[in-house]
Amino acid sequence: MLIGAQWGDEGKGKATDLLGSRVDAVVKFNGGNNAGHTIVIDGEKYALHLLPSGILTPGCTPIIGNGVVIDLGVLFEEIDALEARGVDTSRLTVSANAHVITPYNRTLDKVTERFLGSSRIGTTGRGIGPTYADKMARIGIRVQDLFDEDVLRAKVTGALNLKNQTLIKIYNRKGFDVEAVVEELRGYAERLRPMVTDTSLLLDDMLTAGKTVVLEAGQATLLDVDHGTYPFVTSSNATAGGACTGSGIPPTRISSVVAVVKAYTTRVGEGPFPTELLHEKGDELRNAGAEFGTTTGRPRRTGWFDAPIARYAARINGVTDFVLTKLDVLTGQDEIPVCVAYEVDGVRHDEVPMTQAEFARAIPIYETFPGWTEDITSATSLDELPSNARDYVAALERMINAPISVIGVGPGRTESIVVRDLLH
Ligand code: GDP
Ligand code: IMO
Ligand code: MG
Repeated sequence: MLIGAQWGDEGKGKATDLLGSRVDAVVKFNGGNNAGHTIVIDGEKYALHLLPSGILTPGCTPIIGNGVVIDLGVLFEEIDALEARGVDTSRLTVSANAHVITPYNRTLDKVTERFLGSSRIGTTGRGIGPTYADKMARIGIRVQDLFDEDVLRAKVTGALNLKNQTLIKIYNRKGFDVEAVVEELRGYAERLRPMVTDTSLLLDDMLTAGKTVVLEAGQATLLDVDHGTYPFVTSSNATAGGACTGSGIPPTRISSVVAVVKAYTTRVGEGPFPTELLHEKGDELRNAGAEFGTTTGRPRRTGWFDAPIARYAARINGVTDFVLTKLDVLTGQDEIPVCVAYEVDGVRHDEVPMTQAEFARAIPIYETFPGWTEDITSATSLDELPSNARDYVAALERMINAPISVIGVGPGRTESIVVRDLLH
């Protein structure tokens, strides 16, 4: 399993891609097209939103699990764009139980955010939150519903009875017409049908046959609806537990939990971020790391590495290996501060404080490490790193309660130092 340890955009796409042809299937288990995973192969850049990263690996079966919410228009656009670039997408498999993002939920996401004003979450506006809310409220539309027009019409009618009241009476918007929604969704059914299967059963067969399966998270630990910085989170479980519910693979069949963590920290959208750098230093990190959202293009907020957060991720997810990405971005810093604990109302907290209010007031306590100036992008082993870079990595490893098995030194597929094979 592969998850994010911070607030997303740690480089999960690249880390999954790194495992390459040794992986038989990659399952996306949560989120939807709020995610943006960038993968660079031979200088060519691919931005994936709904499709699992395994789509770029010949022979690998990419699977969209039941825990994902699917915007079918976006799915087909993404497939067409990859096909136009010569990528074979014919192995893509989609769970019959995955939920579908409807046009009214896209609208509701946007109008709710506007309504919240200064309390907004800063969502990606893709309809993710309302779609998961419908799933929990048991009024969601699932992939399998698209194949029976009567069932689909009955479900859309039921949902719109409620949603149109909300749109018209609370948000002063126009309602949606049942037939127009049914027609839009039915329009996708024929093309979708051959991709749809019982993915839990397929995965069970693959695992029984000894195949290697990677469960790939969208978002990350601090954006998890249960364990993240609620309410400034996404609406799904991006942590290890979500990999089981979102794929139908039981916990007893999961052998390792790889967490991707950036050598500094970024966040998109609103919410607390103790180590955030607001001025020139923040801009400098943003520019050095090209920290602009893959999905919405928004500038990412940037800050120093936060060790209590990575430790928290290790604990919540049972991390067996960390992949430390973007070490190269820190090249040229005179010194590199690392948050080792927080101070809240004059009291030291070595771990993430219990309440959101405390976390929002947390002031980082920093330990500072000397930087390096040498270009590290071509390093392929630890001893090719300058000693200060090696010391920085060793210091982080001591703080985060799991070994750093891979170090990213550039965006390219080959720009990594593999200390320990992730498929151990
Ligand atoms: P994801 O959402 O976790 O898959 O991450 P994103 O793709 O949104 O953001 C990570 C960005 O960092 C992408 O543009 C990657 O190409 C890039 N990246 C990944 N690993 C490294 C690395 O080690 N060094 C550098 N410089 N860039 C990296
Ligand atoms: P990847 O997979 C970074 C953030 C949004 C917002 C909050 C809720 O690329 O790491 P949503 O649209 O999900 O309801 O928005 O979550 N967010 C992400 N931030 N990377 C992502 O995905 C994100 N997906 C959602 O910015 O703050
Ligand atoms: Mg991303």
